[in-house]
Amino acid sequence: MRYNKKELKLKLDFNNMMSKSVADGFTERDFARNAAAIAQAHADVTAGRGNGMMGWTQLPYNQDEVVADILATANAVRKNFEYFVVLGIGGSALGPIAAFQAICHLHYNDLPKRKRKGPKFYVEDNVDPERMVALLDVIDPAKTMFNVITKSGSTSETMTQYLIIHDLLTKTLGDKAKDHIIATTSRSTGNLIKIAGKEGYKTFYIPDGVGGRFSELCPVGLLPAAVCGIDIKGMLLGARAMDEQCATSSIKKNPALMAATLQWMAMRKGKNVSVMMPYADGLKYIADWYCQLWGESLGKNKTLDGKDCNVGQTPVKALGVTDQHSQVQLYAEGPFDKVITFIAVDNYRETVEIPQGCEEFPNVNFLCGHTMNELIQAERTATEYAITKAGKLNHTITLPVLNEFTLGELLMFFMLKTAYTGALMGIDTFNQPGVEEGKNATYALLGRPGYDEKRAELANAPQKALKYTI
Ligand code: PA5
Repeated sequence: MRYNKKELKLKLDFNNMMSKSVADGFTERDFARNAAAIAQAHADVTAGRGNGMMGWTQLPYNQDEVVADILATANAVRKNFEYFVVLGIGGSALGPIAAFQAICHLHYNDLPKRKRKGPKFYVEDNVDPERMVALLDVIDPAKTMFNVITKSGSTSETMTQYLIIHDLLTKTLGDKAKDHIIATTSRSTGNLIKIAGKEGYKTFYIPDGVGGRFSELCPVGLLPAAVCGIDIKGMLLGARAMDEQCATSSIKKNPALMAATLQWMAMRKGKNVSVMMPYADGLKYIADWYCQLWGESLGKNKTLDGKDCNVGQTPVKALGVTDQHSQVQLYAEGPFDKVITFIAVDNYRETVEIPQGCEEFPNVNFLCGHTMNELIQAERTATEYAITKAGKLNHTITLPVLNEFTLGELLMFFMLKTAYTGALMGIDTFNQPGVEEGKNATYALLGRPGYDEKRAELANAPQKALKYTI
């Protein structure tokens, strides 16, 4: 498929982050005052490209071979299987869910097979036993390809799901079980790579420099997307276009650097909440994906030079217009602690006219003759106006249309924005030490070898008082 780069360019409107629109907003002087820090953040991210945990910056450029392999594998899966199930969690699940929701039919699994043209798609990103049983109630494992995705190759949740599925497949299919599992994992570390080698699974590799939440554009996201008929080359082209646009150090031309700078300056003014509010059901789970990216990358308690800090901005997902009837009251009248990102879509992929009716009720009839498209646009414009009038910082990202190319642009925009913001904050954007404690305690509770000390620590933790348990 061909994409017109110029026509598909995202539009970023930062007016409502500026003091001309919102009293709390910023001025040219703020950019000037922070010019050195901004230049340094740009230089750090540029220098880091392709190194350490910034391998994700190269994904739009270095995957020709792997894309060919993914497409061939996806074609075979589409031909031979009726269900495709991703087993994974966090960065190994949120990207696949977001891309599926963005590009595929919004009721994809309910479509008849001839319209779907690919297997039904499920992402199991929890260890709720009820959900596992529910999955097994609706799929036939003998007609299912399972894609086990884990970078570390040892995440308890994913490996638990794997153990259950492997056992089930082996009991029902014997030797053929191996043809129903594809592993996506690190080539160099973890258990899954060893298990895959022993069992003979088809395997895709997650490059070392690509962390979970930055992995949607590698096989983690590309294989599930291709299986669902998504044009993964289009996604990579879009990501590349955004990456190229963000190469410049000029803040007025680099949307990710501009967004990062404004968000960072807002954080320093106590705006501790980042609301992501797309006005498109297709983008609903982009907000989920963003929450992990933003929260896990920027929520840190140490600076790069080892100083104590407790920084970050709590990401909140919202959906326009649905959450106008749930969250917007708080955004408009509540505390001045948020930056709201609206995502607009110029051209929805469908147009629905509102038919004539209710002539004797003018307060209903005014809707007639319009389209749902006009209504959702009007509601977004009106909410942006109301939020701005209430003095709350906000900005809008507009997609000309939601397709593979603009999805790729959006993903790359958010990843670059996160990297720049982390650099401005002086923290390690790419680690997640804060989740280790909970993981280790889980291992101790379940008796993993080597966790005796942690088990003893847990046993000695302050006991809960009955008087506070009602
Ligand atoms: O961003 C990250 O690295 C994490 O959130 C991981 O994606 C998550 O913990 C799952 O890890 P793994 O892919 O190793 O199973």
